[in-house]
Amino acid sequence: MTTQDRGFLPDSIRTNGATPNPWWSNAVVYQIYPRSFQDSNGDGIGDLPGITSRLDYLADLGVDVVWLSPVYKSPQDDNGYDIADYRDIDPMFGTLADMDELLEQAHSRGLKVIMDLVVNHTSDEHAWFQESRDTASARADWYWWRPAREGTVPGTPGAEPNRWGSYFGGSAWEYDEKRGEYYLHQFSKKQPDLNWENPSVRSAVFDMMNWWMDRGIDGFRMDVISLISKQVDENGKLPGELGSNIPDGPIGPEGFSNPEPFTSDGPRLDEFLRQMRHEVFSKRDGYLTVGEAPGLGPERNRFITDPHDGELDMLFLFEHVAIDHGPTSKWDSVPWDATDLKRTLGGYQEAVRNAGWASLYFSNHDQPRPVSRFGDDSTEEMRVRSAKALGLLLHLHRGTPYIYQGEELGMTNAGYTRLDQYRDVESLNLYHQRVEDASLDSPEEMLQALARTSRDNARTPMQWDATTYAGFTAPYAPTAPWLSVNPNKDHINVRQQQREDDSVLAFYKKLIELRHTNPIVSAGSWDLLDRGNPSVYSFTRTLSEKIAGESGGRLLVVINMTSRSERVPQDVVSLINRQADSDRILLSNYDAENTAASLLLGKLSPWEAFIYRLE
Ligand code: GLC
Ligand code: CA
Repeated sequence: MTTQDRGFLPDSIRTNGATPNPWWSNAVVYQIYPRSFQDSNGDGIGDLPGITSRLDYLADLGVDVVWLSPVYKSPQDDNGYDIADYRDIDPMFGTLADMDELLEQAHSRGLKVIMDLVVNHTSDEHAWFQESRDTASARADWYWWRPAREGTVPGTPGAEPNRWGSYFGGSAWEYDEKRGEYYLHQFSKKQPDLNWENPSVRSAVFDMMNWWMDRGIDGFRMDVISLISKQVDENGKLPGELGSNIPDGPIGPEGFSNPEPFTSDGPRLDEFLRQMRHEVFSKRDGYLTVGEAPGLGPERNRFITDPHDGELDMLFLFEHVAIDHGPTSKWDSVPWDATDLKRTLGGYQEAVRNAGWASLYFSNHDQPRPVSRFGDDSTEEMRVRSAKALGLLLHLHRGTPYIYQGEELGMTNAGYTRLDQYRDVESLNLYHQRVEDASLDSPEEMLQALARTSRDNARTPMQWDATTYAGFTAPYAPTAPWLSVNPNKDHINVRQQQREDDSVLAFYKKLIELRHTNPIVSAGSWDLLDRGNPSVYSFTRTLSEKIAGESGGRLLVVINMTSRSERVPQDVVSLINRQADSDRILLSNYDAENTAASLLLGKLSPWEAFIYRLE
């Protein structure tokens, strides 16, 4: 099957006039975190030639699109999400020639490649920012510069223009001696926010995007794109600034207020995204745009992804990956159950029933590993069952599924117990802020929080085999991997799973194939069953025969989200009507006979998950 065949559904197959059938409507995207995927030269850091050498693995897995986290030139303060030159590759990852080679090799295997686009901010080492530090330069207004509060000593605590905190700890303002003013950075102080109000900033960004599209990439994943337009008052003042008509938000336990209500989904977001569509994509075809959208909900997702509004193809929303977060921060965890997932994932589905599109993800380079977080990694049997169950749950929703490297193996959290094992700027800053500056947590508490929530959980090297460095880098490599390998590479690795028919990897291949071959999976409408059940997540997918002819029909999807056996929900019992027939089981993480027996007995096994063909 070529990507062309994969991409397009027959025109007749559309649900309720929803999104009109672009190539990605039955595609699956695979995210690569280049630092941690494959090292080719023994320096302990993954690189572009390493990725190219593994493209056959991705083609065999069956995915359609590869998304690369940033590989641009960068001082790597936030692992490349701080870009110093948008038109060059960081030497650590390779060269522009390596990138061209990767594109060519990917395309020859029918794989598309999208790049991360980080334009809410640049690195402080970017030439634009360096120029901007001079008030006389043409780029003086390219960033959010503000004077110290009147009557204070610039650079001392309390002199910051407002009380906003950075998502990576501390104030969101940094004083620059040279310019004698503060600049805004919502992330680390080496990630100054670009001023999108300035039309020259926008055209520089669009030029750069066109340059990459012309070079042959197939689109962008747009980093924190919902944050590019900031709320300002009639005089251009930010909330909480001296003389501003808008106050900033309440001060949290760390001593700062959260900028997100004022910087996410700002007043000009739609305008900026439409302009981008017009300047970069309107004359192109076959591309994909997906925006990371903290602060946006399902209704805004529908609007932004509705082709009539012409903004982006899809967005990553955050509600479902916050169900275990405490009220003030992700470092405090709260219990959750299946109803929380139904509310959030279900809310996204319902909003795009008639227009717009959903992305489907549990995992990326910022989130802990789903099998450790939502599944059960306490025993090998439960790890395998729950990794498959979570995969089946996600991949049977309507939308575009994203697989983050290693998710297809059921890779787990890192299991670090010491601070010196972490590398992530967010984890390290927050540790210092919460333990040392604000005494909110004891060192033990914060280490536990990091073990549960740190982004480094997702960033450990890809587990290819059981050798010393998991095949990520050669066992005799002079330098150890930049972040240590999870010792469970001994039994969780690609080589092992390629040998076993019932591995998590083999199961993911089936899920990907189903999306390509079964139009009910890609296009059928989604309807939740048994909303209030805290243990079992079940829904149906329906594609009317009027639209789809013989490929129409109805699927029932049931997932036991606990490590106990659970009663088969009444809604499911009535749909199956006591005819449990193993031939109708399209896929199960137990075997079909076992699942048919579960249905007859009315009892699901721990993490049992299956697809049943009703019609
Ligand atoms: C996004 C990225 C994250 C990064 C942040 C700042 O959330 O996914 O890794 O740290 O933006 O660029
Ligand atoms: Ca390398």
